[in-house]
Amino acid sequence: MKHSVEHRTVPLVDIAAQHRSLQEEIERAVLGVLESGKYILGETVAKFECEVAGYTGAKYAVGCASGTDALLLALMAFDVKAGDEIITTPFTFFATAASIARLGAKPVFVDIEPDTFNIDPEKLEKKITPKTRGIMPVHLFGQTANMDHIMATARKHGLFVIEDAAQAIGATYRGRQAGTIGDLGAFSFFPTKNLGCAGDGGLVTANDPGLAEKLTMLRVHGAHKQYFHKYVGINSRLDAIQAAILSVKLKRLDEWHHARRRHAALYHELFEGSKVRIPLVKPGNVSIFNQYVIQAHERDRLKEYLAGKGVSTFIYYPLSLSLQECFAYLGHKKGDFPVAEKATAEVLALPVAPELTEEDVRYVAAKVLEFYQ
Ligand SMILES: Cc1ncc(COP(=O)(O)O)c(C=O)c1O
Repeated sequence: MKHSVEHRTVPLVDIAAQHRSLQEEIERAVLGVLESGKYILGETVAKFECEVAGYTGAKYAVGCASGTDALLLALMAFDVKAGDEIITTPFTFFATAASIARLGAKPVFVDIEPDTFNIDPEKLEKKITPKTRGIMPVHLFGQTANMDHIMATARKHGLFVIEDAAQAIGATYRGRQAGTIGDLGAFSFFPTKNLGCAGDGGLVTANDPGLAEKLTMLRVHGAHKQYFHKYVGINSRLDAIQAAILSVKLKRLDEWHHARRRHAALYHELFEGSKVRIPLVKPGNVSIFNQYVIQAHERDRLKEYLAGKGVSTFIYYPLSLSLQECFAYLGHKKGDFPVAEKATAEVLALPVAPELTEEDVRYVAAKVLEFYQ
C-alpha cells in the first residue's frame, strides 16, 4: 500500500475541537442556566431527560451525577444487597463491577466473546445460582451485547437486567436502542463518551413507572418530598449546567455517530487482508464506535511505534477485573477468563473521533500497516 510520508499528530479524542464547533450555542445555554439561579435539577434537567427519552425511545429518563451512579442507582432500585450475586463481564470499565461490590453484592464474571468483547451469553446460564438476582451486560465500545439471548436467560430465571450502556447511547440492537431492552439502562456523559458533558454526568432509562419513580427518589436521598425519606438513597443529581450543554450536543449526536462509523468503515477497508484484527460488528447491530479497538500482535510495541509517529492510542482495558487487587477476595486466578485476559494483552484503541479527517484515518492505518511490514 502507498502511504503518505507527511507527519501528522492524530489525537485519540479532541474534546476542545468538538467544543469549538458549538461554542456559541453552549456558552449561551450555560449563561442561561447561570442567570436562572436554578443549578440543581429543575426544568433544564427535566427538558434534557425528556429529550433522552425521545432519543432512545425509553418511557422515562432520570438524570444523575455520573455513569457510575447510574449503575449504582439502578442496582439500588432493585434493592440489591449483601449476599446477592450479579452477573457481569470482567472486560469493562471498573465501575460496572464496582457498583455491584459497593452494595455488598458479589460480581460474578462471565467471559466475553472474542470478536465483540461483549459478555458471552452461551456461558451465562452456568453461572446462575439461587443467589443470582440480575445480569448487567455492558455494551462495550459502542456495540450492544447479544440482548435476545441475555433477556431470554434472564426471564427464564426471573432475573433483572441492567444494561451498562455508558459507552453506547444511540447504538441499536435489531432496531432497538441500547439501554431500553433490559429493565433499566445506565448511561454516562463522561467527556470522552459520544455524548459527553463538561464534567461528570449520567442517566438511567426505564420503561416501568414504578422503577422510574423510585430512581427519582433514590437520587435525592430517597425523598418522596423534601425532608420525607421513603428510602436511604444517595445525593446524585445531574447539574443543570451539564444538562444544558448536553441538550445542545444531543442535536449533533447522530451526525457524530455517522462520522465515527465512516472512519471505522475506512479502517476496515484499509486493514482488509492485513494482520490487524478489526472489531467485528455483529449482524443486527449498529455500533456507535465509542472506541475503535483492534487486536494486535506485539501490541505494546505497536503502541510505542504509533506514538513516535504522532498517533495517540489507548489500552481499554489492561487488566481483567477478575485479577484486580480489590477483587482478590473473589478468589479468581489467571486463566479463569481466558478470552478477556487475551484481550487485555492485545487490544488497542485507535483514533476514531468525529473531528478526525479522512486523511487522519488513512495516516493512522498506514502507520499501523507500516509497523507490520
Ligand atoms: C462501561 C462503563 N461503565 C460505567 C462507566 C462509568 O461512567 P462515569 O465515568 O460517568 O462514572 C463508564 C465510563 O467511564 C463505562 O465506560
